[in-house]
Amino acid sequence: MTDDLAGLDGAFALVTGAGRGIGREIALSLARHGARAVAVNDYFADRAESVADEVRGFGIDAVALVGDVSDHGTALRLVDTAANAFGAVDILVNNAGNAGPLNGIGDRAPFWETGPDEWGPWLDTNLYGVLNCTRAVLPSMVESGSGRVVSVISDAGRVGEPDLAVYAAAKAGVAGFTRSIAKAVGRYGVTANCVACGYIDTPATSMLAQNPELLTRALRPYQIRRPGRPKDVAAAVTFLASPAASWITGQTYPVNGGYSMAQ
Ligand SMILES: NC(=O)c1ccc[n+]([C@@H]2O[C@H](COP(=O)([O-])OP(=O)(O)OC[C@H]3O[C@@H](n4cnc5c(N)ncnc54)[C@H](O)[C@@H]3O)[C@@H](O)[C@H]2O)c1
Repeated sequence: MTDDLAGLDGAFALVTGAGRGIGREIALSLARHGARAVAVNDYFADRAESVADEVRGFGIDAVALVGDVSDHGTALRLVDTAANAFGAVDILVNNAGNAGPLNGIGDRAPFWETGPDEWGPWLDTNLYGVLNCTRAVLPSMVESGSGRVVSVISDAGRVGEPDLAVYAAAKAGVAGFTRSIAKAVGRYGVTANCVACGYIDTPATSMLAQNPELLTRALRPYQIRRPGRPKDVAAAVTFLASPAASWITGQTYPVNGGYSMAQ
């Protein structure tokens, strides 16, 4: 690997939940910055295929990996399929996530009025999805003596959000998991980091962008008073996935327009 700031030096990357939004932009950024192939996961086949086609537009290889990463067996199968297509995964981006239906601001039921049936779906993808995919890629990374795991979490997991307690628990869990993994695999040349997003304008949050009154309220705590763009997140992920970030591990990088500044 070179120390080129922008170059991924022909790495093979797998991005989960890459069929739209932030994940799509990460897949395209990795393609643009020197990956040799990108595996595009999503549980919607049409989304995964469409982004894989966009990746191929950069003249590199791509494979669509259709499946739900919250299922352990499926995650193992997806990583196997990826490895059979293009060799062992060098970069895993755990992006697939779900903040639940967004109808407004402050209109979700308080935690004390919810039950385990509602918690499961958030924990499944946001936490177990990360554990499953990381479990699947680490053996070959450890064996080869290099690798990058970058997980997309949320400021909700760093500083808390009143209506998003379970989501925040899952995302904070990923940060703790990442620090532990970083300590376990650093000696094998593998790094693990998180990028913690503030409000990013994606299909998942489009109802905010479409409602000027809600948007103004949502942006009030942001020092840089615009929604984040998927590209803002992709830039940080691409850097952490690159050879240039080889001495950065176990960290959580906020990409949040100044929404929160303390850890
Ligand atoms: N948009 C924001 O404001 C924001 C803020 C903080 C954190 N995030 C995090 O960023 C990540 C991406 O968010 P987004 O806004 O782009 O979401 P999005 O809903 O626009 O896109 C997510 C994609 O992931 C796929 N997906 C979801 N669960 C999956 C699973 N179990 N297996 C496979 N594919 C799955 C979906 O089909 C979808 O195509 C998530 O982890 C989210 O929690 C987003």
